Amino acid sequence: MNADRHRWVRWPSGPGRARLGFGADYNPEQWPREVWDEDMRAMRAGGVNIVSLAIFSWARIQPSEDVWDFDWLDEAMDLLHAHGIAVDLATATASPPPWLSAKHPEILPVDRNGHTVWPGARQHWRPTSPVFREHALRLARALAERYGGHPALAAWHISNELGCHNVYDFSDDAAAAFRAWLRARYGTLDELNRAWATSFWSQRYSDWSQILPPRTAASYPNPTQQLDFKRFSSDALKDHLRAERDVLRALTPDVPVTTNFMVMGETKGMDYADWAGEVDFVSNDHYLLTGPQAQDELSFSANLTGSLAGGRPWYLMEHSTSAVNWQPVNLAKRPGGMARDSLTHVGYGADAVCFFQWRQSAGGAEKYHSAMVPHAGVDSDVFRSVAGLGATLAALAPVAGTRRLRAPVAIAFDWDSWWAGELDSHPTSLLRYRQEALDWYTTFLDAGVRADVVDVDDDLSGYRLLVAPILHVVPAALARRLEGYVASGGHLVTTYFSGIVDEDDHVWLGGYPGALRDLLGIRIEEFGPLPDGEAVDLDLGVTGTLWTDRIDVTDPATEVVATYKTGDHAGRPAVTTRRTGAGSASYVSTRLGPEGLGAVLPHLLDVAEVSSELPPEARGLVDVAVRTDGTDDYWFLINRTDRRVDLSAIPGDPLHGPALAADTTLAARQVRVLRRPRA
Ligand code: GLA
Repeated sequence: MNADRHRWVRWPSGPGRARLGFGADYNPEQWPREVWDEDMRAMRAGGVNIVSLAIFSWARIQPSEDVWDFDWLDEAMDLLHAHGIAVDLATATASPPPWLSAKHPEILPVDRNGHTVWPGARQHWRPTSPVFREHALRLARALAERYGGHPALAAWHISNELGCHNVYDFSDDAAAAFRAWLRARYGTLDELNRAWATSFWSQRYSDWSQILPPRTAASYPNPTQQLDFKRFSSDALKDHLRAERDVLRALTPDVPVTTNFMVMGETKGMDYADWAGEVDFVSNDHYLLTGPQAQDELSFSANLTGSLAGGRPWYLMEHSTSAVNWQPVNLAKRPGGMARDSLTHVGYGADAVCFFQWRQSAGGAEKYHSAMVPHAGVDSDVFRSVAGLGATLAALAPVAGTRRLRAPVAIAFDWDSWWAGELDSHPTSLLRYRQEALDWYTTFLDAGVRADVVDVDDDLSGYRLLVAPILHVVPAALARRLEGYVASGGHLVTTYFSGIVDEDDHVWLGGYPGALRDLLGIRIEEFGPLPDGEAVDLDLGVTGTLWTDRIDVTDPATEVVATYKTGDHAGRPAVTTRRTGAGSASYVSTRLGPEGLGAVLPHLLDVAEVSSELPPEARGLVDVAVRTDGTDDYWFLINRTDRRVDLSAIPGDPLHGPALAADTTLAARQVRVLRRPRA
């Protein structure tokens, strides 16, 4: 994002008071009025200083088209303010009320099979519906007019998780908007026909009106059409974000605007690198997933969110105190888990830590989702740990406003490669872009080396080592940038299925990895994907899965770092490094997973002259996130293991951690925050 645009929460007591936000989505409309007073007491006891209000309140605020009911919201705003709690006020447009969808069924999304997505849950609206847009902007305007001057108002919260349920809409509105988007992108039908390679399968268009979203077809829909529809769908939601934002900015120019992103797991419909510049500060929702890399995935997501925020603070809008309700099995967090998760986000730049939601609902679809106040009430371990976290965040006030300290290594993340790399009719359907990126991240954590997860379009020049996993889409300009990065002494690493296509999803001819072939000093004629469950051995003593390549070395400066021992390519290179000038370009041709990558990493670190900042005994055991105010650095040391870790070799002034100065070990799930003067 353009970091100059950054404008943080407007705390009601005036700017300058450094603090970390702490709170939740607050849904008072679900409760009788007397519960609100209890809420205020418990919020104060828990250290809550900010809540998000009215996220799903449209039907309550506007019970019918010309009837408005603000009384309850006036009262909630006043009550919160009286208790010193700031409000991130939603525009309330996330879930349209029944009267609107009944009167205007043309706002309802349509799936790829032409089926209507009916109301009854939430977010049943077409991002491109002019009717929905008109009603949503009317509501946003009404809220801005009424609450723009309210002293509790700290920020605007546009909609909620834009695209959570409605990113892909195949309706006629979407078709019309898609055509307009394509006209803007391509200008002429000839250019579209070229980009979409419509000479294949007799798909040539002779009129714009013939073009449709990629609805269910007889076979694989045109891949560039699919990729463009993903780009368009992200843009359509971004357009909605901008429309609401512009209404708010016109009426309340001093109030910062945000919307909650979903940088987590396989949520991939929205290109947040492209969205980040549209908001005054970046917000994210993250829920801990399950599996062996769950904690690393949280760290990865927080890290990437920090990059989207340009290294400036961002707002953790939602996570969970304990279990969620939408996984196949919803596990409660273990003691210490909630605080560890929260502090990991803070380490990677969150200046606000909030939850879904304040009080666990008694009814509705999310009644088994944890909250700050559980069904058991405030006399509960969950609420006691919430209050403990509130106190911890108050003690960590010195980190508020500090920025990320750049790591020596970057992992480049690219939505286009995520989208295009996982399209159908490819060499394998098993490839998972984000998993490969996460595997690299885990590998760096295991080695105790800090790595920033950055957008591929960010300034990469300061990183000694740059890993671009499955960088599938490489437009000519990106190829030039990467060549420039290596020419000026950078060390690039990429993997299988990289450099293959341009921005139109057309293959770079002449042998793979196409756009990166010369830089890497290798040439591949045919891909060698592996069947599920099959593995090949490498001479490093590790195994590869998913993919292999039959590599020919084309440049004498290309060194073979690892060789296949088994499989169709036995005896041929599996990992290569081409040194050129002060830089290098390396290629990893198979999926090694964190363990296998761990065997290759020492070579890559060696070539790039990067080493761990941690003492050897702590490497791999702690996740280290570092923030800085320019004078002092703040080291967040997060125990990744289930055992006690000795940190006595890392000195510093403890801001948070077990028994502060007295104990230099970290128990399972504990976090230690050290203030250390800048070297
Ligand atoms: C999302 C939504 C919330 C809630 C949570 C549950 O993040 O924004 O309203 O549904 O999921 O995990």
